[in-house]
Amino acid sequence: MRIDIITVLPELLKSPFEASILKRAIEANLVEVHFHNLRDYTTDNYKSIDDTQFGGGAGMVMMVEPIDKCISKLKETRNYDEVIYMTPDGETLNQSIANQVSLKENIIILCGHYKGVDQRVRDLFITKEISIGDYVLSGGELGAAVLCDAVIRLIPGVLGNETSALTDSFQDNLLAPPIYTKPRIYKGLEVPEVLLSGHAANIERWREDQAYQRTKDRRPDLLDK
Ligand code: ADE
Repeated sequence: MRIDIITVLPELLKSPFEASILKRAIEANLVEVHFHNLRDYTTDNYKSIDDTQFGGGAGMVMMVEPIDKCISKLKETRNYDEVIYMTPDGETLNQSIANQVSLKENIIILCGHYKGVDQRVRDLFITKEISIGDYVLSGGELGAAVLCDAVIRLIPGVLGNETSALTDSFQDNLLAPPIYTKPRIYKGLEVPEVLLSGHAANIERWREDQAYQRTKDRRPDLLDK
């Protein structure tokens, strides 16, 4: 998979890709991530990427031309399956969207800033709009990092244990069950007996029950899906 990220703040985005699982995925060539600074595609001496709104109103709007130049340049070299715009009015990210995106070959992610982009950017180039939740961030960069993390860990080979993404919370619309490690007793709290029993079928049943109970208590909305 190849991810091209268009941003005005590449420095804000880089560190999540320089540590842990994402770093290893990149080093193992399971994913390529490239950053493109929108200011490199400006047409004036001031390197402007935004301007005031037609019709008036507070806040600046990202102009269509630098974004067009950047996306068009990328498209000269390869076809993209999706051009994703990070925006609070997009579809809310969930595991199902992460699964779908993880199956793509080449994607572009555009990070918004200020009030957002000129509507013609969305009309001309964007194929998918994603929000990471019902709150407003200062820019799309942190959203893009969240999306990339959720997607990259699903690429086969990225996680050490191939099954571990499949047992994550949300993969079957259930939250994950409680988990334990050593010691067996800590401050009087004991690991449930069944987990020490070595009885695989009983353990599996206990985990399913716990996952269901936890989902019912915390996220009953997931059970309606
Ligand atoms: N940009 C600003 N707020 C955002 C959000 N909630 N999700 C994605 N991108 C954003």
